[in-house]
Amino acid sequence: MMENIDWKNLGFGYRDTDYNVRCSYKNGEWGELEVSTSNTINIHMSATALHYGQEAFEGLKAFRGKDGKIRVFRMDENAKRMQNSCDGILMAKLPVEKFEEAVRIAIKKNERFVPPYDSGASLYIRPLLIGSGPQIGVSPAEEYLFIVFVMPVGPYFKEGFKPTNLVIMRQFDRAAPQGTGKYKVGGNYAASMYEGKKAKANGFSAVLYLDSREKKYIDECGPANFFGIKNNTYITPESESILPSITNKSLIVLAEEMGLKVERRKVPYEELAEFDEIGACGTAAVISPVKGIYDNDKDKWFKYGNQEEAGEWSTKLYSKLRAIQYGDEPDTHNWIKII
Ligand code: PLP
Ligand code: COI
Repeated sequence: MMENIDWKNLGFGYRDTDYNVRCSYKNGEWGELEVSTSNTINIHMSATALHYGQEAFEGLKAFRGKDGKIRVFRMDENAKRMQNSCDGILMAKLPVEKFEEAVRIAIKKNERFVPPYDSGASLYIRPLLIGSGPQIGVSPAEEYLFIVFVMPVGPYFKEGFKPTNLVIMRQFDRAAPQGTGKYKVGGNYAASMYEGKKAKANGFSAVLYLDSREKKYIDECGPANFFGIKNNTYITPESESILPSITNKSLIVLAEEMGLKVERRKVPYEELAEFDEIGACGTAAVISPVKGIYDNDKDKWFKYGNQEEAGEWSTKLYSKLRAIQYGDEPDTHNWIKII
């Protein structure tokens, strides 16, 4: 039975579904995957996740195709990135196969929540790994809990594929130069909430962060990577403090196939004046085209395109990525697993 949901008007918000999948780490080993119908967890009040932010999460999506099949996008990459986050904050690493199996079960069990093909919506999958064992000194837990839950979602930025504005505010950093910015850990998101809220209250969709060491180079845009296009070249920042986006990595491949050159390098602030198109990219954001960047410290605007719609290359990249994800075009890179 399909759920009675207004699929076309879903935002990006939490919603209960039927099941989640869990796995515990105790005595030096991971246990069996378990299916739960509860949306709460019972953990020790001294769990390291609660006190010292020892937790990491992931975000990926599954799509229902015209053929009715459900396709999940590059979940092996999310599994590996979660392992990398575990290395970064000393958590027990979950094997890739176990991660993938948990994702498969979570999707299968909640199949009725996978939005229909023509809705443009998808199933957002949120794997979470937390230090659940007690410590009061600052050191890693000895017990961990891994959970995968899912929910149907629409666009992250309510405008969807309509261009929005970003804001630069130099007094805020989400991550330190040699800190945890490259890991998908909760602390980075807590650190970004204050300025994120301020940006939204002023009509911007996200903060565009500059590098926190020198404030000379572009880092990333809130919960998404940054790319700019000029002279038939797709340019995206190389930085030690940004999350390696799987969407960006995929767009780089598609851009090359479309005949764009690709440069992954430091992107100086001044170059903002030179781009023809700018986008924020990520699982939740897909591609969110950018029509303007306001530098709050210099009271200066950078404007892009015709202000009404996404640019030519951003549109082509967006369409191509979505076509692969929904199964409208062949998956020549082995990015898709059918559930
Ligand atoms: N940057 C940050 C800080 C993010 O939270 C995300 C979202 O996962 C991304 C970039 C985009 O990464 P991905 O394309 O793997 O979703
Ligand atoms: C994602 O794109 O999956 C994210 O995790 C972004 C955000 C919801 C934190």
